[in-house]
Amino acid sequence: MANRERFALHVNGQIHVVEAEPTRRLLDVLRADLGLTSVREGCGIGVCGACTVLMGGRPVSSCLLLVSQVHHQEIVTVEGLGGNGVLHPVQQAFIEHFAFQCAYCTPGFILSTVAMLEKEPDLDEQVLGEYLSGNLCRCGSYLHILKAVRTVARGRQHGFS
Ligand code: FES
Ligand code: FES
Repeated sequence: MANRERFALHVNGQIHVVEAEPTRRLLDVLRADLGLTSVREGCGIGVCGACTVLMGGRPVSSCLLLVSQVHHQEIVTVEGLGGNGVLHPVQQAFIEHFAFQCAYCTPGFILSTVAMLEKEPDLDEQVLGEYLSGNLCRCGSYLHILKAVRTVARGRQHGFS
């Protein structure tokens, strides 16, 4: 049996100590060990963005990261957004603009949008394209997704946090 080690992951503001083989994917740890099923597997090779999480505020593909690479790193999944029963403004905008069909891609899009707005609060179409180019929607909900993202970005420019 392969060696199992202990790793401390800071996920959604809580520390979780997991025992796993160092080569276990972050995606599998989050879904299977921590029950965070908003993190989804699509391609498994870093192309579709379904498995996106934030690490240190940056969107990353959890299918490409090993648990040994995220020891003591700050990870955020969609379950960690919002609080006290109130959705994050990006989540709210996706609902208001019907920015999904099956919603398989939605957590990834939301997290990429959150990261973009943290770094680039002024909406810029080029930046928007760059940030969201790593997320694919097989249902083709792009028009509604972009509407939601532009709306929340405009709200952000006018003052909400
Ligand atoms: S499952 Fe990770 S990028 Fe597609
Ligand atoms: S809403 Fe189905 S994949 Fe995007």
